[in-house]
Amino acid sequence: MTRIPHETSGERNPLQVLTLEQLRRRTSVKWRAHPEDVLPLWVAEMDVPLAEPVVRAVTGALELGDTGYPAGTAYAEALAGFAAERWNWDGIAVERTAIVPDVMLGVVEMLKLVTGYGDAVVVNPPVYPPFHDFVAHLDRRVVEAPLGADGRLDLDVLEETFRRAVSDGGRAAFLLCSPHNPTGTVHTAGELSAVAALAERYGVRVVVDEIHAPLVLGGTGFVPYLSVPGAERGLSLMSASKAWNLAGLKAALAIAGPGAAADLARMPGEVGHGPSHLGIIAHTAALRDGGTWLDALLTGLDANRRLLARLLAEHLPEIRYRPGDATFLAWLDCRGLGLGDDPADVFLRRGRVALTSGPPFGTGGAGHARLNLAASPEVLTEAVRRMAVARVLRPGRHP
Ligand SMILES: Cc1ncc(COP(=O)(O)O)c(C=O)c1O
Repeated sequence: MTRIPHETSGERNPLQVLTLEQLRRRTSVKWRAHPEDVLPLWVAEMDVPLAEPVVRAVTGALELGDTGYPAGTAYAEALAGFAAERWNWDGIAVERTAIVPDVMLGVVEMLKLVTGYGDAVVVNPPVYPPFHDFVAHLDRRVVEAPLGADGRLDLDVLEETFRRAVSDGGRAAFLLCSPHNPTGTVHTAGELSAVAALAERYGVRVVVDEIHAPLVLGGTGFVPYLSVPGAERGLSLMSASKAWNLAGLKAALAIAGPGAAADLARMPGEVGHGPSHLGIIAHTAALRDGGTWLDALLTGLDANRRLLARLLAEHLPEIRYRPGDATFLAWLDCRGLGLGDDPADVFLRRGRVALTSGPPFGTGGAGHARLNLAASPEVLTEAVRRMAVARVLRPGRHP
């Protein structure tokens, strides 16, 4: 069960530390893809300073010139400790883990282990667009099993999709996003057990992207897929990169269930050449010593979710927003605004606020936009103001 953070540590809300002026000096894609007059709430980068333990670990390594190739199992050990403390799960066996360059390249490597050319990979749209793109690039076939209208896994649709996916005699995998990007849905133990049972029944291999796992808030709690009965043949990808904003410090972990150890062992050793030593140092420090910072972040994100709901109810009541229990992303159903399939395009052109477009999320993405909540309350408030202006402005006018 995930601990529900309370502001008791004295750690400041990391979402309220940096000014917009400081953030605009950043050179990452969030801040450089659009001109300066655009407020960026799109790609999954957070407007936070790094957790102090991460800064200390990386600067310590730099001072020492410790910038060679990675070695050892510190990352896996730190994740195992985090999993035990936060999720009450002691199922991460270091010998069933492998470092990979990042989560998406890890997904690709896991899919290579359990599927072949042209095989089906089932995904649950609307879902993080690279799930479609990376699978297609790998010459696998994307097969959609859309989420239900409630934003949750639809087990009947999933079963029918699994049945079709293997009907030609080929192999198939299910690429599960847990927690789910963009809806923030946290799958329950019951849902995950049902997934495992269906996967076994149809011979579908489950590869689960659990990158947002540390970012679960609320009573439900995060359930690691590999912790549920029947999931022994699953493969998971985990990383500190989303929860501690470390995407530029490349590293992630692939984790095999007991029944998938032999598969993971077939992963070519060259893959382990991809993650950066500094990335591993940063991720390890975050998982080992970044808990207080994470709790302060989760408290700030929870407040932002409630703030966004209030702001939308007041200024854009036509938008439907169901706050999820995880991630720092908000999935906005903008169909009531009548702005067409890609409302993010309208918000950008007319309101100078950048959200992520819905259609690339696959079925269910049209008429939607994804908003990144990992910003200060002031930025969030200004973003909604601009969106409201965009709704009423004629094309071409500035807010
Ligand atoms: C569900 C999900 N998986 C993977 C990634 C990317 O992770 P990485 O940079 O480690 O490939 C993201 C980034 O936002 C994500 O939301």
